[in-house]
Amino acid sequence: MPNLRPSLATNTGGIASPNPFWLASAPPANSGRQIQRAFEAGWGGAVWKTLGVPIQNVSSRFGGHTIHGVRGAGFTNIELITDRSLEVNLREITETKRLFPKNPIIVSLMVETESQWREIIAQSIDAGADGLELNFGCPHGMCERGMGSAVGQEPAVNERITGWAVKYSTVPVLVKLTPNVSNIVPHGLAAKRGGAHGVSLINTIKSIVSVDIDRFVPEPRVATKSTNGGYCGSAVKPIALHMVASLAREKDFGLPISGIGGVSNWRDAVEFILLGSSTVQVCTEVMLRGYGVVEDMIDGLEEYMRTHGFTSIAQMVGKAIPNFSEWGDLDLNYETVAKIDADKCIGCQLCVAACHDGAHQCIHPQENTRVPRIDESECVGCNLCQIVCPVTNCIEMVQVSNGHAPASWNDFATQGAPLRPKKGAH
Ligand SMILES: Cc1cc2nc3c(=O)[nH]c(=O)nc-3n(C[C@H](O)[C@H](O)[C@H](O)COP(=O)(O)O)c2cc1C
Ligand code: SF4
Ligand code: SF4
Repeated sequence: MPNLRPSLATNTGGIASPNPFWLASAPPANSGRQIQRAFEAGWGGAVWKTLGVPIQNVSSRFGGHTIHGVRGAGFTNIELITDRSLEVNLREITETKRLFPKNPIIVSLMVETESQWREIIAQSIDAGADGLELNFGCPHGMCERGMGSAVGQEPAVNERITGWAVKYSTVPVLVKLTPNVSNIVPHGLAAKRGGAHGVSLINTIKSIVSVDIDRFVPEPRVATKSTNGGYCGSAVKPIALHMVASLAREKDFGLPISGIGGVSNWRDAVEFILLGSSTVQVCTEVMLRGYGVVEDMIDGLEEYMRTHGFTSIAQMVGKAIPNFSEWGDLDLNYETVAKIDADKCIGCQLCVAACHDGAHQCIHPQENTRVPRIDESECVGCNLCQIVCPVTNCIEMVQVSNGHAPASWNDFATQGAPLRPKKGAH
């Protein structure tokens, strides 16, 4: 019997890793002892908490967003880069590398001048860094000092500083991009022009997480004031996926990607990989639940690969990108309707309320049963009822054969391709 165990080994821009799960540069990657415990737990690599000129942090500094009772579904911070001395961090990098030679340590850096970049790069490589990550993403505090997202938002500055780092580095350089831009592509291309070996994204999103409505101060509160923070955690995953995919599909880009933003389980990781990431980085989920979360991530990914016949991560990277297209290329003649499985329905009527007030008024309560009726001739196939239904697989979206050949808006606009009659537009 052949050994069909898939290999989780992966490579991002020349940085080899035993599996695609890296700690993101953040509190879980703040010290040698922490990273050593993370490697023991199964993490493949770690991006060290950003080194630079040590700073003074504020208290408090984190805020949580509770979404429908789920605490920490979104998370914010106003923390800066490492507040530990450079000397201590470098010593711990060397020690961790000695203890875990197979697990890559990527050292995140953020300084100002060319000579500072040259010096800290040399020190990091001497300490044992397998790669560097340039933090061009921090959206608070450091950007006001001309670093972090202030660099990531200016392609010319990004390109120049990336160029310095690549010139002075003998190990691969990843550029960590900020999501605080309207279009990520020019920023990824700037990193490429600067010579980067890959990019990582996203850093945190500029935000105000909440307001203390009794004290009239946004949170997290520092004495009587607050400031904008960086949003992350599960809530940001859709934004991160879009930015990763936008770069992965850009024909002039082509650099390896380390995907970050809201990864909380193996499924999230698979989504990032299918949209072009060869590694994924995790911060918030580890902050909330500890290093042990990686065990389920590894098991889940392995099982997914087995059931889908993938033997390597490389086979999966970007597999969904060809199916991420422009709206104008979608098939306007493809039609679905909702169908309720009466055996599974618990009669809660949530789909009735949603369809009546938020969609097309085609799910109706019935007199002799709690199972609602769908008027398929009016159903536009929007998915809303399926989204609100609390029972898994109770409502399914089923394709309708309407006799019309596939035709996109672009086909209609350029060749006058015939479109099916509209539903629900009266
Ligand atoms: C408290 C905190 C501190 C962070 N510090 C850094 C940092 O020093 N350098 C950096 O590049 N990113 C930093 N980040 C951003 C994370 O590395 C990551 O990009 C972001 O949190 C999104 O991932 P997540 O959704 O898994 O948390 C920090 C995030 C948090 C929550
Ligand atoms: S798919 Fe949309 S339109 Fe159709 S029944 Fe469900 S909510 Fe109503
Ligand atoms: S939401 Fe689902 S379970 Fe509730 S009534 Fe509709 S179909 Fe039945």
